[in-house]
Amino acid sequence: MKRSAPPLGAPLDDRATNIVVSLLERFWLSRVVRADYADERATRTPHDPMALVLTRREIVARDKDVVALTFSAPDGDVLPGWQPGGHLDLHLPSGRRRQYSLCGDPQDADRYRIAVRKIPAGGGGSLEMHDLRVGDTVTVRGPRNGFPFIPYERALYIAGGIGITPILPMVRAAQRLGADWHFVYCGRSAETIPFLDEIASWDPTRVTIRLDDEHGVPTADDLLGQAPAGGAVYVCGPPPMIETVRLNFDRSGAAALHFERFSAPPVRDGTPFEIELARTGDVLDVAADESVLDALVRHRPETAYSCRQGFCGTCRVAVLAGTPDHRENRLTAEERETSMLTCVSRSLTSRLVLDL
Ligand code: FES
Repeated sequence: MKRSAPPLGAPLDDRATNIVVSLLERFWLSRVVRADYADERATRTPHDPMALVLTRREIVARDKDVVALTFSAPDGDVLPGWQPGGHLDLHLPSGRRRQYSLCGDPQDADRYRIAVRKIPAGGGGSLEMHDLRVGDTVTVRGPRNGFPFIPYERALYIAGGIGITPILPMVRAAQRLGADWHFVYCGRSAETIPFLDEIASWDPTRVTIRLDDEHGVPTADDLLGQAPAGGAVYVCGPPPMIETVRLNFDRSGAAALHFERFSAPPVRDGTPFEIELARTGDVLDVAADESVLDALVRHRPETAYSCRQGFCGTCRVAVLAGTPDHRENRLTAEERETSMLTCVSRSLTSRLVLDL
């Protein structure tokens, strides 16, 4: 079942129209970040947990370490709608919770597609995802969107490796809308980057593929050389790539930057401290360049987390003593008095006592 295509806004073709872009952006952000999506035909909402069945499993990278998974409702019902940049929260059979960007077609009303890179040394979520087989059921919440697509007339899309997942539907939407777009895709080698077959069907004059084993690590000019004057840049990939784009964006000539991290942001101005786990008495060191969550996972690999960026709330713990250095925007002032998000927040005191 197909949803109808989103409307194309008026042409946005010079810096003066950035006001329009800004208003448009505010409209989209207020709509998508807060409310997620509804589809009048869907009987489910993004707020309801949904049991979805895996209906298709495809290997989409030559090294076989990226799998694309398609989920549908067991009754084939219409699912809540989404826009490019949206993601799902998946609750895995083990109890792990992970977020994955949607990389299918938003107009497919009865299925969601995500893609997962296998990370053997990760927290186990990717291995569990790779072990799923057609017919297995997972619990899903969403879709939600913290990286919304805005129909700029001119945009550069940059992806690093599995960071292509939110970018794929954005580029498809830009094509569909007749926008002036360019796509820069970076990765370690042609073996490792997913969806090459699909990208091969795109206009090759609008696509630049940069592989580390052929061209070296991309420079700021490699990444931003095609940034459109007065247009937008979207980037998703590893932290060093995003930092390179962020630090050099001002001289690119583009007017708007949107980025999404796939992993924890680097710790800034970190100092070491200790955490005490009140229920066991264990005391763990938190190094200057690691998070409380890192220390917890090292000690207890089953520790629950998801986004590692301070917005999902999965890693929240109660603080019994000490003063956290809150580095997120999710918790209320009241919540901050008694708890913290261990993935990004640190300590203002030499020790925090956690209710763990
Ligand atoms: S893991 Fe998502 S807020 Fe910490």
